[in-house]
Amino acid sequence: MSLLISGASVAQQRANYNEAKIKPYVLPDVLQSANGQKVKSIADWENGRRKEILRLFENEVYGKVPEIEQMKHSSQVIEESSVALNGKATRKQIALNFTNQDKEINILILLYTPNDVEYPPTFIGYNFYGNHTITEEAAVLLTDSWVANNEDFGITENKATEASRGVRTSRWPIEKIIEAGFGLATIYYGDVDPDRDNFSDGIHPLFYKEDQEKPTSDEWGAIAGWAWGASRVLDYLKQDHHTSGSKFIMFGHSRLGKAALWAGATDTRFDAVISNESGCGGAALSRRKFGETVSVINTSFPHWFADSFEKYNNKEQELPVDQHMLISLMAPRPVYIASAEGDQWADPKGEYLSGYYASPVYKLYGKEGFTSPEHPKVNQPVHNTIGYHMRPGKHDVVDYDWEQFMKFCKMNLSE
Ligand code: GCU
Repeated sequence: MSLLISGASVAQQRANYNEAKIKPYVLPDVLQSANGQKVKSIADWENGRRKEILRLFENEVYGKVPEIEQMKHSSQVIEESSVALNGKATRKQIALNFTNQDKEINILILLYTPNDVEYPPTFIGYNFYGNHTITEEAAVLLTDSWVANNEDFGITENKATEASRGVRTSRWPIEKIIEAGFGLATIYYGDVDPDRDNFSDGIHPLFYKEDQEKPTSDEWGAIAGWAWGASRVLDYLKQDHHTSGSKFIMFGHSRLGKAALWAGATDTRFDAVISNESGCGGAALSRRKFGETVSVINTSFPHWFADSFEKYNNKEQELPVDQHMLISLMAPRPVYIASAEGDQWADPKGEYLSGYYASPVYKLYGKEGFTSPEHPKVNQPVHNTIGYHMRPGKHDVVDYDWEQFMKFCKMNLSE
């Protein structure tokens, strides 16, 4: 398929990219409970079906966060400047510490807020290689956590160094975000859970029972760990005097788009959610088996999900959920689904259709999701309470994506 980028993995080359080869499938009805009962009101939804769907995703896909008694935590502002970005913004770096059973994690938040807006609506988003990669600002601290090696970024010993400062600025147009009146909080995802198949580091061990070495089959994988971390960042931002009156938009790209959706599903304090090219296990419908599939993702990235998700490898029709139901858990909050034409691996049409099939829940609240099953063409954004665009180009985050996100958030969060 010509849209596939070179350097694709074997799984990417073998995947189905042909619409005509998709076998007919039936999606679970978002407004009908497992016992056959129809959802007729917001109360039926909120007290019944929504809870049921959330449980199903917890038990069968992302895994449950184990219950533990209180965990010790603290926060400390370690750096602050009110003349960041040429005086336009205040930059703040905050260390969160979580400790339990002799294990700890440290999460470093990098927060920018515009100096001329009180309580700006604020994006919260994980980055892939450390906070210092998203800006050239020399004061931004390096993470101590494990980082994936990347020769292009000069990361060789799983350690962040000065070599990677600013390497990801193209994905984070901070000045434009600030000038548009938004705040931005970013966190390195490996501070919460390093992205490797290793349950002895990151957040999971803080929740282990005695002698436990990995989560049980229905307990959380990495995506649920990152979602948990996002909620802890939100706890902090809700009491920081720069953002205590702000609205919060959870944003994520790719695997972190999957985490953003799960964070929005499990924590309704996120006022809006944006998933960029989140694909399989994110916004894309699993039953289409277009691009990446459940068995492929469970083989390449088994640590992202609960082990229980594996029983659906090549058995998507047996899943009690599909990803439109994940989108429905955001209702009635604004949710944005972004795709790229060159990212067929993530199944742009399947990402759009999730929004379409989640729309009846938005309708319950008198909100408009998507009104047509027709997949919008390139550069034809739809901005209702559910938003969508497919831009040309490859798997990435570019200025066009941010322009749409900001426009959508201005429209939806202004009341
Ligand atoms: C791989 C993976 C995707 C994921 C992506 C990313 O391509 O198969 O599911 O979204 O990595 O996170 O960049």
